[in-house]
Amino acid sequence: MNPVDIIIKKRDGLALTDDEIGWFVRGFVAGAIPDYQVAAFAMAVYFQNMSDAETTALTQAMAASGDQLDLHTVLPKDVVIVDKHSSGGIGDKTTLAVGPIVAACGLPVGKMSGRGLGFTGGTIDKLESIAGWNPELSDAQFHQQLQQIGLVIAGQTADLAPADKQLYALRDVTGTVPSLPLIASSIMSKKLAAGADAIVLDVKCGRGAFMETLAEAQALARLMVAIGARAGRKMTALITQMEQPLGRAVGHALEVKEAMATLHDQGPADFQELVQTVAAEMLFLGKGMPPDAARAQIQQVIQNGSAFQKFRAFVAAQGGDPQLVDRPEKLPLAAVQMDVPAPQAGFVQRIDARAVGLTVAALGGGRQKKGDAIDVSVGVICHAKVGDAVQAGAPLCTVHAADEAAAEAAVQRIQAAYEIGAEAVAPLPILYDRISSQVE
Ligand code: URA
Repeated sequence: MNPVDIIIKKRDGLALTDDEIGWFVRGFVAGAIPDYQVAAFAMAVYFQNMSDAETTALTQAMAASGDQLDLHTVLPKDVVIVDKHSSGGIGDKTTLAVGPIVAACGLPVGKMSGRGLGFTGGTIDKLESIAGWNPELSDAQFHQQLQQIGLVIAGQTADLAPADKQLYALRDVTGTVPSLPLIASSIMSKKLAAGADAIVLDVKCGRGAFMETLAEAQALARLMVAIGARAGRKMTALITQMEQPLGRAVGHALEVKEAMATLHDQGPADFQELVQTVAAEMLFLGKGMPPDAARAQIQQVIQNGSAFQKFRAFVAAQGGDPQLVDRPEKLPLAAVQMDVPAPQAGFVQRIDARAVGLTVAALGGGRQKKGDAIDVSVGVICHAKVGDAVQAGAPLCTVHAADEAAAEAAVQRIQAAYEIGAEAVAPLPILYDRISSQVE
């Protein structure tokens, strides 16, 4: 076999065999296939797609490319280990609130998260706005923290699905992110290798997601649920709205603050609703809890402060400064804050979430090439969401930028991302669909 033949076969729209896919994946992890051929392969898949069988083979090869964890070596056999993963969105800080809530409900959460991808932000980059917080844990540290605190969020280690780690970084900078087989195999390879018994997938759908239509999101959700169920995992995919930014904050430190406010029951309504929906689904898969009971327990751990304390303990255990959790106003703050005035009075009809994500990336919150540093202080706070009434000149958003020129450019872009009209419109729903391998 040789990499060029495999790239050409896919480029020409032919189906690859399991052996070819496995050989290619092993080759690039071993360093025998260079980045430019892996990038060409990704582009061929982007244009030609893959069958479900090819995607399953790619997922399995990537999951087998490194360590495959067994968290039951440190947790009792009867504890169901539940993981969650989002397909990526704008302002998606869900893990930061869901992880502590679910852990406070007594279900251990030991999770590997990613960095930003394309126009979306990543959980690890967000948490790095807390000075000292470290995503790089040894297996022993991961296990110890899971046992002692019940909550670990770590970066993908070099040894866990290394094939995905390499491909992910290349896709981010080669325009090959929004591909159903590449997203499905990326997410599911990590999830299978990380050893969870049950997985809740938050499949984002809309302008700020890689899947823009419900049909595409459902196809991705079904495929991932099928791949996981075939590997013996309990699976649910929630298809959730990503037309407009989630919550109000977009940008790393701003999102960490919003997640912390949500743990104090002071988060934006749409974000709170999503957090509770995802957490309830995790409690259903992990403990068999019916939705009402799950929501009651979620409310309880928020109200009694135990979810927030879980977050604090998790941050401290991973080297983060707990004073920043107690005093979020001390988190990195951009030098310039500039409001985006509404050009006219009316109702917010639409907010182009992707444009908001790209604006935050252009402010310094995203990467242009592999390994770029990002500015965690920049971002946007959306004061007005779809359905809200606004007065002419009232602030739609506040831009947080490093300097006046960057802020002014962002103000223009954000203004263009908002559509304001005379007609009243209803707020957008959060949950579009649920596809599960389990009967409720
Ligand atoms: N999240 C991932 O882990 N991979 C993707 O490809 C997209 C979102």
